[in-house]
Amino acid sequence: MSDQPLVGILMGSDSDYDIMVEAAQVLKDFGIPFEMTVSSAHRSPQRTAEYARSARGRGLRVLIVGAGAAAHLAGVVAAETTLPVLGVPIDASALKGLDALLATVQMPAGVPVATLAIGRAGARNAGIFAAQLLALANDELACKLDEFKDRMAAGVAVKARALQDRMSRDGF
Ligand code: RP5
Repeated sequence: MSDQPLVGILMGSDSDYDIMVEAAQVLKDFGIPFEMTVSSAHRSPQRTAEYARSARGRGLRVLIVGAGAAAHLAGVVAAETTLPVLGVPIDASALKGLDALLATVQMPAGVPVATLAIGRAGARNAGIFAAQLLALANDELACKLDEFKDRMAAGVAVKARALQDRMSRDGF
């Protein structure tokens, strides 16, 4: 793969970084070039529209968009591009991410945002999902995804054995 970013990670504020870095880590692990920046649907609407409109032309293939509270960012981005937009609702307010989930997932027909889980798991899954989309046209990446699933399954098997040992020690 060249160094040309294929995935754009956008977040509504730098306060979202600790969550969205999960997506970045996954992409790095899979060797997928990405870019990451901040833009707000409400505080910098112009910057957000320009980012979304220029994304495809700049070579990006998938956009991962995270925001908290009244999280319109993913929807606004999806309105301005035909690239697939993966939305990550962030737990950034008194409503603990439920506000962001509903704002991100409840898009009107015609403007899809593929919405992931709230917070860290959602950001991580957005990274994996982006890899899966890119793997549709990249066999090497598809192999890496197979290996990733194998490692996950092996990890569960290790935990199952450890649990069995613990139960034995506890007299079950
Ligand atoms: C949203 O508001 C951002 O995505 C962030 O999750 C939340 C709070 O932003 P800050 O006030 O921390 O900048 O737009």
